Amino acid sequence: MSQAPDSSTGTSRRGFLRQVGATGGAGAMLATMGALGLAPTAEAASREPVFHAPRTGDLTLTGRAAAKVVIVGAGIAGLTTAYELGKAGYDCTVLEARDRTGGRNFTVRGGDTSLDLYGNRQTARFTDGQYLNAGPARIPQWMTTMDYCRELGVPVEVFTNANANAYLYNEKAGMTAPVRHRTAKADVYGYVSELLAKATNKGALDEELTADDRERLLEFLKSFGDIGARLSYTGSTRRGYRVDPGAAGTPGVALGPVPAASEVFASGVGRYFAFEFGYDQAMLMFQPVGGMDRIPAALTRAVGAHRILTGAVVQQITDRAAGVSVSYTRGGRTRTIDADYCVAALPPNILARTRHNLGAAVQTALEACRPASAGKIGLEYRSRWWESDHRIYGGITETDLDLAHIWYPSYGHHGRRGVLVGYYNTGTAADTYARLAPRDREARAVEQGVRIHGEKYRSELVSSFSHHWRQTPHLEAAWHSLAGGPDAAVFDPLNKPTGRVYFTGDHLSYASAWQHGAFTSARRTVTALHARVLGRG
Ligand code: ALA
Repeated sequence: MSQAPDSSTGTSRRGFLRQVGATGGAGAMLATMGALGLAPTAEAASREPVFHAPRTGDLTLTGRAAAKVVIVGAGIAGLTTAYELGKAGYDCTVLEARDRTGGRNFTVRGGDTSLDLYGNRQTARFTDGQYLNAGPARIPQWMTTMDYCRELGVPVEVFTNANANAYLYNEKAGMTAPVRHRTAKADVYGYVSELLAKATNKGALDEELTADDRERLLEFLKSFGDIGARLSYTGSTRRGYRVDPGAAGTPGVALGPVPAASEVFASGVGRYFAFEFGYDQAMLMFQPVGGMDRIPAALTRAVGAHRILTGAVVQQITDRAAGVSVSYTRGGRTRTIDADYCVAALPPNILARTRHNLGAAVQTALEACRPASAGKIGLEYRSRWWESDHRIYGGITETDLDLAHIWYPSYGHHGRRGVLVGYYNTGTAADTYARLAPRDREARAVEQGVRIHGEKYRSELVSSFSHHWRQTPHLEAAWHSLAGGPDAAVFDPLNKPTGRVYFTGDHLSYASAWQHGAFTSARRTVTALHARVLGRG
């Protein structure tokens, strides 16, 4: 094509397309329509539609009445459904089995209590201002969660997800002391760069690279690995200092000795550096100021607490031709609520155990959502020794112990006390801890932490609170894995309504285990339900 079409009028676009169709055939015409934004391209097809929140005017202009909607589950997906539908005046009632809203968004503060499925009762004894985000705890900048924080007036602050001063500790690989993230990274990048530079210079990559490519690669490796003109890694100030540089006369003493390449590779520390590249884990990341539950608290206020019944355990969901009935028990009494629509925003593993008449395909899909385990312990210390003694202000120490990760708080720096996440583990490690009494979970986590941080990890401890999602009543999952992803055929019945019942939740998204997944899934459900009410669905 020699001339760009005038995209300002449909007529000229149609003329242009006729021309393309005549000369290039249907394929060319479709591709051109895609380029003009008139036909779905692969990219357009996979892009989420811009969300238009329902408005009262949508209903009044079309002469439709706002429907009555019962929403099961006051986690992020359920609350968002009620919040968005509420903008258009829908009559929403949210049934929540637990005594608090937020679902897995759970911030533990002093006085909070829990009872797990093994019968362990805990009361958090954290002091004022200290908290543990037992569920979601970090938000990438690109996620919709940030938009809801903005819209709901929830202030956010940086969450430090990676810290060069935190440690790596692989005991099974023979490490006897932790190594700083920065030191391990300097060594890994240094030796990998040296090896690649040597291979390049020996001509091992001549088939892949031109002479110019080789020069450019070597230039890159020199800076990437700090390997100097001799292309050999002999250590670097990137590893850190034994004595930090200061005033004139005190240039510092670089950290040594530098381990050999084979020692570095044998330590297995290299496996930790991919994490900071992840699209959902790369810095900067954010957290609400004061605790992640500021998000459901704001949503709950926006929905209206009078619309949310906590302690309401759903017993049965019945889809009927003209409506839907949901029965639930609350305070020892069973009641039924009738509505035009139901949005099932409870965990799929719980819905799978709830009586319903939604059919075998729905049941099969629900059972195919596999619940996962994860747990955390918050350890409150009377001093912030990790800041004063180790110079660690936030971030994560990575280990091959079954505590998996130690998180240092990204709030309250230089304050008196602080809460560390003493373990954040998943799978069998989480289940192993869950089976222990809370005091034994603490003992196990502390014993392992002492190996990394020394005795203060025990002696400065004031109290702890542990939480395991697979063992949490009414949730019984940290998140769910859906084989083949949410668009696999088996999950089809959950991605569309069955009669008047819709399904929503982070599991029905490409961001399972993220609030973003719950927000986007809820928006999708709201869009479909609203379109149907407007007669466009
Ligand atoms: N989204 C969860 C996390 O970041 C799984 O840990």
